[in-house]
Amino acid sequence: MSLLELKNVSYTYSSGTPFEITAIEDINLTIEKGSFVGIIGHTGSGKSTLIQHFNALLKPTTGQVLLNGKDINQSKQSAHEARFKVGLCFQYPEYQLFETTVYRDIAFGPTNMGLSEDEIKERVREAAELVGLTDELLKKSPFELSGGEKRRAAIAGIIAMRPEVLVLDEPTAGLDPSGRKKILGMISEFRKSTNSTVIIVSHSMEDVASLAEKIIVMNKGRIYKYADVHEIFTKSEELAALGLEVPPVTSIFLKLKEKGLDVNTDIYTKEQAEKELLRYLKREGIAW
Ligand SMILES: Nc1ncnc2c1ncn2[C@@H]1O[C@H](COP(=O)(O)OP(=O)(O)OP(=O)(O)O)[C@@H](O)[C@H]1O
Ligand SMILES: [Mg+2]
Repeated sequence: MSLLELKNVSYTYSSGTPFEITAIEDINLTIEKGSFVGIIGHTGSGKSTLIQHFNALLKPTTGQVLLNGKDINQSKQSAHEARFKVGLCFQYPEYQLFETTVYRDIAFGPTNMGLSEDEIKERVREAAELVGLTDELLKKSPFELSGGEKRRAAIAGIIAMRPEVLVLDEPTAGLDPSGRKKILGMISEFRKSTNSTVIIVSHSMEDVASLAEKIIVMNKGRIYKYADVHEIFTKSEELAALGLEVPPVTSIFLKLKEKGLDVNTDIYTKEQAEKELLRYLKREGIAW
């Protein structure tokens, strides 16, 4: 079932001024309920502009955005509702932490939703547990947390609104490998435990390949392609032409194939790589 639908959406910044720039153009897109979608594309291709249309933060210059079949920009009320149903997490969301305690920061969204004190408490605990923040940390000032913890606290604030769709703009940017792993694990866990729809913008092909089922490739403000992960990452030349790369493991297998090894190149995660390598070695009688 289609959850989010964009029809002929274009957006122009600074319209009518000498700085006018059309950031996205004629976008037609359907996001299915429960899907996990990755958005990739070179810098300036319109990814962040696009996702800000999903919860009415930006209103299309032309075109329509439908959530569960309803135009979210139809009225102030519908735009307001979309803010809660579609939880949008900006790049470096930790810069938006401003409360005196982590607890209060996570409670900010649910409080704005007008929920009861008990309900807010339950949601904060639930979200904190999901992102792995202890009660001890909830009492601290957000400024006392590490970079990775701050990021998780900021995401918890969005999860606490129990959005139907969670949209994350570069959730692992600037984190070390361990911080990255935690965030990615947390996103997977959120999806598993809630069956929500998740959309993630990332420059890391590795992250996108390990999480997403479908991928939107943005190029110069337009959707270049929207297809299954498999379809996207098996066309490395197409991506290269757009200045994008396939995940590192995929490129290794493509090179092995080029060298004449009879390996499957439909590989984009480390787990798949391990399996395929073992399969190859066994078949060649090198391992058993
Ligand atoms: N607030 C703004 N005012 C004017 N122009 C903007 C604004 N935000 C983005 N743009 C322009 O719109 C275009 C698309 O930008 P956008 O931030 O959506 O791209 P992006 O794909 O998210 O890039 P990145 O990968 O660097 O985050 C770019 O040309 C950018 O300069
Ligand atoms: Mg961006």
